[in-house]
Amino acid sequence: MSYAIQAEGLVKSFKETTALAGVDLAARSGTVLGVLGPNGAGKTTAVRVLATLLRPDAGRALVGGHDVVREAGAVRALVGLTGQYAAVDEMLTGHENLLLIARLLGLPRREARARATRLLEEFRLADAGGRAAKTYSGGMRRRLDLAASLVGRPRVLFLDEPTTGLDPHSRNELWDIVRGLVGDGTTVLLTTQYLEEADQLADDIAVIDRGRVIAEGTPDGLKEQVGGQVLQVRPMAAQQLEKVHAMVSAVAGPATKTESGLVTAPVNDPELMPAVVRRLDEAGVRVSELTLRRSSLDEVFLSLTGHRAVEETTTDEDKTEALV
Ligand SMILES: Nc1ncnc2c1ncn2[C@@H]1O[C@H](COP(=O)(O)OP(=O)(O)OP(=O)(O)O)[C@@H](O)[C@H]1O
Ligand SMILES: [Mg+2]
Repeated sequence: MSYAIQAEGLVKSFKETTALAGVDLAARSGTVLGVLGPNGAGKTTAVRVLATLLRPDAGRALVGGHDVVREAGAVRALVGLTGQYAAVDEMLTGHENLLLIARLLGLPRREARARATRLLEEFRLADAGGRAAKTYSGGMRRRLDLAASLVGRPRVLFLDEPTTGLDPHSRNELWDIVRGLVGDGTTVLLTTQYLEEADQLADDIAVIDRGRVIAEGTPDGLKEQVGGQVLQVRPMAAQQLEKVHAMVSAVAGPATKTESGLVTAPVNDPELMPAVVRRLDEAGVRVSELTLRRSSLDEVFLSLTGHRAVEETTTDEDKTEALV
């Protein structure tokens, strides 16, 4: 198997902050590696090291077989980077932004123009191409940003939280673009705080927290690794929430409960469900919801790290109180 990205033991500190504490990553050629982690986990630092923008303190990384420190020029020639914050020039038009990059990359004027026009078409920005980028919506800006990182036809593309702040429609559009690129053979390393994004796009996932890889595998493999299934019970009467929470915890192990009245517990033994039902029945508790479903990556993350991936955007439904 050939790897487009291979990193071993990457360490990077900023004064007292250890951003990377020995990170190993590997992306198979022509696949998407999702790097998942909460704020401050070290995602951007890892991307910057791999894209040759930052020198690691220790460890080694190869991109396209080239060492990111000793052969930085060769690596730069084959990578593209869409950073976490838009890098387009606001005052320039979409077309001018792409043209500028194409010229910087050494394309002759005519070819540069053709490339810019083509990319604007591919990214549905043809109509807006003559307008200053500052007039673009968030989704258009992201698309322009991504187009800019593709001017040089990179074989390896780094996308650092490419859909943060986008609405679901724009997010879906971007996911389709990424799928198309991978279909054409590009290797993508994508960082994200959104579990669903990793689930949708990534062939392999590395979960990082506080500068370390704490789990890795395929999306399905990770879900299985953490128990597999989730039991949810919603008592009909809100005042029975405590009681149900205690009962489920007694049978299935530590359960969580939401303000909206839902008790959730990971279960890895199929016998637990009937046992819970018997207990509820014996206690005369009536429920409005009783489900057994597969763990989401969100729950995988919670169980691995002890906290949710995206704390600030949790909905009421997600606001669980872990009671151990
Ligand atoms: N240039 C820098 N100088 C000082 N500290 C830094 C620098 N870059 C990153 N850090 C610190 O290193 C740690 C990892 O940061 P990093 O930006 O890699 O996280 P991240 O996973 O990308 O987070 P986010 O999801 O918020 O983008 C953080 O504690 C951050 O404050
Ligand atoms: Mg970041």
